[in-house]
Amino acid sequence: MILLTQFKKIISVALLILTLAFVEISSNPQTALADTTTNPATAAEVFSVNCAGCHINGGNIIRRGKNLKQKALKRYGMDSIANIANLVSNGKNIMPAYKDRLSEQQILDVSAYVLSQAENDWK
Ligand code: HEC
Repeated sequence: MILLTQFKKIISVALLILTLAFVEISSNPQTALADTTTNPATAAEVFSVNCAGCHINGGNIIRRGKNLKQKALKRYGMDSIANIANLVSNGKNIMPAYKDRLSEQQILDVSAYVLSQAENDWK
């Protein structure tokens, strides 16, 4: 009888440790992601989720001339993080505003991403 209660105790302690270990493993990657600023992987993700629908490969399916290639960005004064971030925050004509959907950091990151992709000609 004593043995059985001891056994039950050991099992429940083991289960508790397992559960804690699992919670630790499953929550860690997310905290790691949330903590990093200017993470190229997340900026690329933000772009593919929010922007690629219209700007796939740095193009513009609605207004072809207003694409995200370096030449067009320069022509329309969109060759700085500040100007792109401002446009992304507030939107323009058909392009939607993102200030309620993305954090300020995400907008800055995706703007930097657009510039660096333009420099590499979206390759
Ligand atoms: C619904 C389609 C659509 C989506 C989604 C969209 N855009 Fe746009 N984007 C446009 C249109 C249309 C323009 C041209 C706006 C104008 O000047 O009339 C534009 C213009 C731009 C420009 C200026 C390009 C230039 O050559 O002047 C940048 C930079 C830009 N978008 C970045 C983004 C980013 C970053 C996202 C995602 C956060 C995004 N866009 C999402 C449609 C879209």
